[in-house]
Amino acid sequence: MANYQKIKGTQDFFGLEALKKKTLEAKIRVVAENFGFQEIMTPIFEYTEVFTRSVGDESDIVSKEMYTFLDRGDRSITLRPEGTASIARAFNENKLYGNGNQLNKYYYCGPMFRYERPQAGRYRQFHQFGVEAIGNSSPLLDCDVIMSAYRIFETLNIKNIVLKINSIGDFASRSAYQTALQTYFKDKLDDLCGDCHRRYSKNPMRILDCKADKNNPVLLNAPKIKDYLNETSQEYFKIILSILDCFNIKYVVDPNLVRGLDYYTDTVFEYIIQSDDELNGLAICAGGKYAGLVRELGGPDLPGIGYAFGLERITSLLNNQEAWGNLELGVDVFVIGLDPESKQFGLQLAHEWRMGGLKVELDYQSNILKTQFKTLERFNPSYIVIIGEEERISNTVTLKNNTTKEQQRVAVDKVMAIVKEKK
Ligand code: HAM
Repeated sequence: MANYQKIKGTQDFFGLEALKKKTLEAKIRVVAENFGFQEIMTPIFEYTEVFTRSVGDESDIVSKEMYTFLDRGDRSITLRPEGTASIARAFNENKLYGNGNQLNKYYYCGPMFRYERPQAGRYRQFHQFGVEAIGNSSPLLDCDVIMSAYRIFETLNIKNIVLKINSIGDFASRSAYQTALQTYFKDKLDDLCGDCHRRYSKNPMRILDCKADKNNPVLLNAPKIKDYLNETSQEYFKIILSILDCFNIKYVVDPNLVRGLDYYTDTVFEYIIQSDDELNGLAICAGGKYAGLVRELGGPDLPGIGYAFGLERITSLLNNQEAWGNLELGVDVFVIGLDPESKQFGLQLAHEWRMGGLKVELDYQSNILKTQFKTLERFNPSYIVIIGEEERISNTVTLKNNTTKEQQRVAVDKVMAIVKEKK
């Protein structure tokens, strides 16, 4: 049977929802650019290795959630489940690193795809706004990146967000921790799910973000990374927290935060929603530092740090907190013509006014005043222009202010100024 419905976990955006999405992206872009990030656009699909190599074979994203298919040339292709790996791939491929360790700061915005169980705040096609700063390693940079996300929340007037932060250590600390986890889990494997058995030998840290074993005491009592951080990682993390303190950014150090993607090193963080509805506890923005990702994808040994916002989650929050402010879908002018010649004259005028920067809509079909008044309701115009034979011959229009309901006859070349003055 033919299926002409949208795919589960995807959404159509139109009307107010499309306007919200556009408004949101525009506001976030301004903040990202203020912080020195420039836009980068990469394809929405990549060779599958780009993600398996970076996000990690044992991560939920790679092992269960990717939209992977063979193209007609038998190449394995994946719809991007996240942006960081693609940016690192593009960074390498276009040699954006230049001659050395210059810092490159990018932002991106677009759809991502994950085969997850759709529920509140979780979609199969969702949209991320992300930033990546590649080329330097400094606690100062980490803090600036974390603060740029904080600034985005402030700009959007979003309240009740908690910043959770942790350090998962550099490579040496991580390796000591992995060994400790293997020792700890060795005689507890019977208490873990099948997936965790596999993770145990390949990447025991991934056991810690197992969804099935989330509340299992074996997981909750597992060794904590903070006890395995070497001095360098400890010092790095200490400086980050002190800078955040200086800037008065509130945070909670969460020793259980390890993040579900393999490329992270040292700093990891999530901004979590606190609310009394189904969004409570979801991450609205998440990220961290990745010291080895660029090298892993065949590039130079340069570190990066970044994060991504889930735009659908921000939208739900703004809806719940009624924090959208003024969102106007309406037009400046709606043109009504009362006979075929007047409608054509109206089309000419609409064209001129549009060239002058006004939003103008018109009725194309009807000559009947009442019908056209019905049509215009949908467009919520600030002004209504009515043209009949009399107006057309005298090069005037009847201009009605749709708020005050006052109407006057004015020369056509005066309309633009009047409408603009009231805008
Ligand atoms: P992530 O934690 O997988 O990290 O996703 C980042 C954000 O995307 C989440 O916090 C959430 O807001 C949103 N998100 C994820 N999955 C879904 C979904 N199925 N439906 C709706 N929203 C979702 C990353 O993707 C990393 N690339 C972030 C990063 C950038 N790390 C460094 N640079």
